[in-house]
Amino acid sequence: GPVLRVALLGCGVVGSEVARQLQEQQDELAARVGARLELVGIAVRRPGRTRAAGVDPSLLTTDADELVTRADLVVEVIGGIEPARGLVLRAMEHGASVVTANKALLAEDGPRLYAAADAAGVDLYFEAAVAGAIPIVRPLRDSLVGDRVERVLGVVNGTTNFVLDQMDTTGADLGDAVQEAQSLGYAEADPTADVEGFDAAAKAAIIASLAFHTRVRAADVHREGITAVTAADVAAAREAGAVLKLLAICERTGGGDGPDGAPEGVSVRVHPAMVPREHPLAGVRGAYNAVFVEARGAGSLMFYGQGAGGAPTASAVLGDVVAVARHRVGGGRGSSESAYADLPVRPMGEA
Ligand code: HSE
Repeated sequence: GPVLRVALLGCGVVGSEVARQLQEQQDELAARVGARLELVGIAVRRPGRTRAAGVDPSLLTTDADELVTRADLVVEVIGGIEPARGLVLRAMEHGASVVTANKALLAEDGPRLYAAADAAGVDLYFEAAVAGAIPIVRPLRDSLVGDRVERVLGVVNGTTNFVLDQMDTTGADLGDAVQEAQSLGYAEADPTADVEGFDAAAKAAIIASLAFHTRVRAADVHREGITAVTAADVAAAREAGAVLKLLAICERTGGGDGPDGAPEGVSVRVHPAMVPREHPLAGVRGAYNAVFVEARGAGSLMFYGQGAGGAPTASAVLGDVVAVARHRVGGGRGSSESAYADLPVRPMGEA
């Protein structure tokens, strides 16, 4: 039967899980796709250091440039801007469809990648780039594309949610709660990207771009992390019937019924916010993530689940792999982002 060649770039926590699942679920995936998915190579920087449990060592290569030229489908789970960007662009130029989990890259250079996908006539899918296992990219890109999304509120960083939840439930101070998150493996050894809100800002940029069909980059996002939050702040929120969360807030501004007729724009920001205890986002505990969407027709929707970790993130990657593989078997492509509203991103507070 037909075969699709899959190249994997990166073999860390997520990549090794993707490789393992491609092998373990080979027959089921082939049945769902209508073609066999053959893993033809895994590009890594140092083959000796690869956590290759269950991964065929003969597939490992350090020549990612070469590997992407002999694949129908390239899965990028290296992370960061380079060399990931160059490899993804090269893969698409060579006609491969791309699945990536790379939030930093999408938030930095999404439009260039979408344009490259359009030019090559291939798919660029990235469900795993925002909130791990939670389906939120496809719902915004596809399911809600006929509606008008007004606002998206997200708890999109598991580490900071765990930290604030610990402070709320145990009265711990910030430093102790961060240490606890590190010892449980949630926070990185250097938790800066989490606690300073950089990780959430990248996800907010991607969400806002999809929700409002515009271009928002991580650098456009007003960002304030949780480093200034004290045990007293958390206690004060509780007394007020609220819970402190690091929220990603993406909303439309102006352009409507306001008296001054401010032009249409978007506001995208990440900061600690008081969430009323009765709001569904208040119930997101521990390292979980959730995204709350308000759309004109659909009303309120909430997406909830695990936003990080090998198996949850690999679940989103494999869903994309099957989706783009089906397009290659059936002909045609999935969603494209070539049409933009190009709304200005307004500084915080300016409507
Ligand atoms: N450090 C991130 C988090 C992992 O805590 O949510 C997923 O991007």
